[in-house]
Amino acid sequence: MAHKFDVRKAELLDSPDRLQILNPDTILDKLGLNRETMFADLGCGTGYFSLPAALRVSKVYALDVQEKMLEILQNKIKKEKIKNIDIILSRESSIPLPDNSIDILFMANVFHELQDKKSILSEAKRILSSGGKLTIIDWKKMEMDFGPPLGERLTEDEVVSACKNNGFEILEKAEAGPYNYILIFKVRKNSQVDKDRINIDCIYIN
Ligand SMILES: C[S@@+](CC[C@H](N)C(=O)[O-])C[C@H]1O[C@@H](n2cnc3c(N)ncnc32)[C@H](O)[C@@H]1O
Repeated sequence: MAHKFDVRKAELLDSPDRLQILNPDTILDKLGLNRETMFADLGCGTGYFSLPAALRVSKVYALDVQEKMLEILQNKIKKEKIKNIDIILSRESSIPLPDNSIDILFMANVFHELQDKKSILSEAKRILSSGGKLTIIDWKKMEMDFGPPLGERLTEDEVVSACKNNGFEILEKAEAGPYNYILIFKVRKNSQVDKDRINIDCIYIN
């Protein structure tokens, strides 16, 4: 079973060296964020991405299954007087957010830690609005002196295939620095199919 990032090593998530290998602003630049965007950072940890995202969007929902991570983020938010981040204790196989409420669901170095990837992808599909996007950043599957063990890592193709099988279409594959990849997906919503069907019915009746 994939292990969870140890909260006792939480300071590594905010290490200045990390800015050189996984720069949050460079990554957020790719996502087309604006002042209306509803952004969910699943597996937010100490807020390495939530904090800079909050400067660009309407609202950030920062979710994690480890309460201790959220406490660290809560202290930063208080200190910096940030008003548009909501901190939410998440669950292993579900995401406590309403249907169709999110424009961008973001997961950085989290997907390989999920115990129940299928359920989280189904939840991702539920909470994303029509036209919403799922962004997954994760470790490249290669030997390194840091990061999760090789056996717990997933290749880009494995992640793409899991997402395709669960209602997502790949829009972009790129490098997110020397050690990580970034994958951006569009959600395929059933409601879109239903809307098309209603339109077709209307044309038919007329
Ligand atoms: C390696 S840390 C990355 C933190 C942050 N995204 C970053 O890049 O700094 C992975 C985080 O994902 C969280 N996590 C793992 N499984 C999760 C799940 N099912 N739902 C929400 N968070 C999860 C862990 O608790 C941990 O804080």
